[in-house]
Amino acid sequence: MKRQDTLEISGVTVRFQGLTAIDSVTESLVSGEILGLIGPNGAGKTTLVNVVSGFQKPTEGSVLLNGRTTGAETPHSLRRRGVARTFQAGRLFREMSVLENVAVAGVGMGRTRAAAHAEAMELLDWIGLAPKANLIAGALPYTDERRVGIARALMQSPHFVLLDEPAAGMSDLECDELMRLVRDIRDRFGCGVLLIEHNMRVVMEVCERIHVLDSGRTIAQGKPEAVRNDPAVIEAYLGGG
Ligand SMILES: Nc1ncnc2c1ncn2[C@@H]1O[C@H](COP(=O)(O)OP(=O)(O)O)[C@@H](O)[C@H]1O
Ligand SMILES: [Mg+2]
Repeated sequence: MKRQDTLEISGVTVRFQGLTAIDSVTESLVSGEILGLIGPNGAGKTTLVNVVSGFQKPTEGSVLLNGRTTGAETPHSLRRRGVARTFQAGRLFREMSVLENVAVAGVGMGRTRAAAHAEAMELLDWIGLAPKANLIAGALPYTDERRVGIARALMQSPHFVLLDEPAAGMSDLECDELMRLVRDIRDRFGCGVLLIEHNMRVVMEVCERIHVLDSGRTIAQGKPEAVRNDPAVIEAYLGGG
């Protein structure tokens, strides 16, 4: 039987000096679920991912992973507990090969170099980058960098994967391919996925539930059809974009 993991974001607030980047946000995610997180630039989406992945301590509230608070955890210890993320900007080792960039994430999780290389190659094959495995990462276009980021995240055998705007700058065709990968992360790897994305076609097609932030506050939560037709969402986000 597959185990069911849970991630609960409970009343999380983050303040930076005078600015409230996130204001009492509550949400939850379980294995096998794809949750969309949308909102205008500056809404607090990345800050929320930073909190869940241990890069940012909440000012108030907490995050529970399988019922246990993550308050004292570092990004590294959370990776070990199964929370993986990608970054808006690639954050790759630009002078290393694509393969090394992915493999190093496995070595960081305690795998041998040989095992990490073999698994990295499988993941690159899955993500469509096997032909570029030996290229220097710094030579990749942004869209490929983001896919390498996804492969790195999956090297950590995560239970939850947080994707920060993976489709930015992608063509329609690349978006279709990305949607396949996101569904695969759920179906094949059994993960819960939090997907931050501006491309409404991608969000509406792939997410089972959507959470909408505006200026750090939750303005809507629910099924794609309901969120799409919510006047507050149209006003804050869809109408403007
Ligand atoms: N480390 C930080 N220090 C101060 N302000 C920050 C910091 N990180 C983010 N912010 C601010 O918090 C708000 C939310 O930012 P962010 O989470 O990056 O939004 P989004 O990802 O939705 O575009 C923005 O106003 C941003 O300028
Ligand atoms: Mg962001």
